[in-house]
Amino acid sequence: MKKADLLNKWGRWALVTGASSGIGEAFAHHLASLGCNLVLVARRGKTLKQLGESLKRKHSIEYMVIPTDLSAPNAYQQVMAATEELPIGLLISNAGAGRPGKFLDRSNEDLSEIMELNLHSHVWLTQHFAWKFTQAGGGGIVLTGAMGAVSGLPYMAIEAGTKAFIEAFGLSLNYEFKNTGVHCTVLVTSPTETPVLGKLGFTKESLPMQPISPQQCVQETMEALYQNKASIIPGKKFRIMNALTPKSTSKKMMGAILKKNNQL
Ligand SMILES: NC(=O)c1ccc[n+]([C@@H]2O[C@H](COP(=O)([O-])OP(=O)(O)OC[C@H]3O[C@@H](n4cnc5c(N)ncnc54)[C@H](OP(=O)(O)O)[C@@H]3O)[C@@H](O)[C@H]2O)c1
Repeated sequence: MKKADLLNKWGRWALVTGASSGIGEAFAHHLASLGCNLVLVARRGKTLKQLGESLKRKHSIEYMVIPTDLSAPNAYQQVMAATEELPIGLLISNAGAGRPGKFLDRSNEDLSEIMELNLHSHVWLTQHFAWKFTQAGGGGIVLTGAMGAVSGLPYMAIEAGTKAFIEAFGLSLNYEFKNTGVHCTVLVTSPTETPVLGKLGFTKESLPMQPISPQQCVQETMEALYQNKASIIPGKKFRIMNALTPKSTSKKMMGAILKKNNQL
């Protein structure tokens, strides 16, 4: 089946969380250019509206904005309720955040927010939409994880844990959904040039390899999703690095960089 046929089969609406910036915004541009109507989810409603308007003008698509904080318990229910009537066929569950710090210094509230956003919101949205996609005979799901999470990220322990969960969760579902028409791919995000890198204290110079563009990240992820690959690490150099670097070395290297960049 051709890619365009697959997108048609999945329906003309896609839902993207974390669409106000970075990789999610690049997904929105990519999908709109293919003629997909969009549900855009993030906290910054005004930014989402501006994005929706500009994509509507450029690609003649329809869009809906859901400004919500996915780190709040049950926020996902707002997303489900608002989209009940829409024939969504593609879920890009991408919103996520990280705050470097020593685990023992972090408050319960801080840790709960990260778990809600990076873990629970993905699980509940996936279950809801996967059920709908199965009823409709097909659909696509991208779950955003992080390269290196399964090796451990010192000073971002809760982020590493939640992202490692997403990776195992998505790999499992990719198998479980076989023969249902539902594709599920984990985006094991390699360093990508978005505002998140700055928020984590990284500079281009402090990274052992230059980050890829959000556009490359999205192109490779969509290709993997069409092929129903269980996971994708965008960027050949990062795939090679990931394959060749022992987990203990990756953990040590990331721990040293995060400690230094964030004065921990
Ligand atoms: N860039 C990288 O190198 C890298 C590496 C590993 C993993 N990742 C993962 O990739 C995903 C996208 O990140 P990015 O690099 O594109 O960073 P980004 O530019 O900072 O984008 C993060 C997106 O998530 C949304 N978001 C954050 N907190 C939210 C909340 N509480 N409720 C709803 N939406 C929220 C943000 O929107 P609002 O601020 O408007 O809410 C924004 O749209 C994340 O899951 C991140 O963990 C990125």
